[in-house]
Amino acid sequence: MENNVFEQMAKRYDTAERMELANIIVKEVRTELQNSQSKSLLDYGSGTGLIGLALSDLVNSILLVDSSEQMVEVAKAKISQRGIANAEVMHSDFTQGTPQHKADIVLMSLVLLHIPDTTKILQELFNSLNDGGKLIIIDFDKNDKINHPKVHNGFSHEELKERLAEVGFKSIEIRTFHHGNHIFMNQDASMFISSSVK
Ligand SMILES: C[S@@+](CC[C@H](N)C(=O)[O-])C[C@H]1O[C@@H](n2cnc3c(N)ncnc32)[C@H](O)[C@@H]1O
Repeated sequence: MENNVFEQMAKRYDTAERMELANIIVKEVRTELQNSQSKSLLDYGSGTGLIGLALSDLVNSILLVDSSEQMVEVAKAKISQRGIANAEVMHSDFTQGTPQHKADIVLMSLVLLHIPDTTKILQELFNSLNDGGKLIIIDFDKNDKINHPKVHNGFSHEELKERLAEVGFKSIEIRTFHHGNHIFMNQDASMFISSSVK
């Protein structure tokens, strides 16, 4: 999906359906983040912060990064309204150059499907992790009912494992955790969580 689409959507992104899906994702990621109190978390493609801001109590610091300025603005307003002391925002697109920022954990929820060059973004996220750091990806399982020129129709676990290994990730685990109705471009679909280590 073109990025200006997200610019236009930002102020009306938090619909009841998206918030419901976000809560399911948050529940899954929170389990993955046990014992992370000393860690820095980078939420890449954070959007309005539906996922990242619901994790701020589990980590030492959180940086919400998005390539859409409007999304970043919405997230920033939430941080100040809610008085979340350990969260910051950054307007950036890591596919355009290697980021300077390093984190212990990188989370990417429902973003990989929107980025054409999967290997490139995985490589940049690998570069943005500290040694021993963890990448957590939430996305849709491969879905043949979806066909859109700007969006990957999900990912097969085998294909993604290969891409992650190719850029240097180890201890790669991927599992499906949720099946839902009309959750991926109005089609029934399932979501996976992937965790891998630098
Ligand atoms: C479907 S939303 C997901 C938002 C949030 N992660 C969630 O799960 O609720 C996808 C987000 O990825 C962002 N995005 C798309 N391409 C990006 C890129 N190349 N770099 C950074 N963010 C990107 C969009 O601006 C949008 O905010």
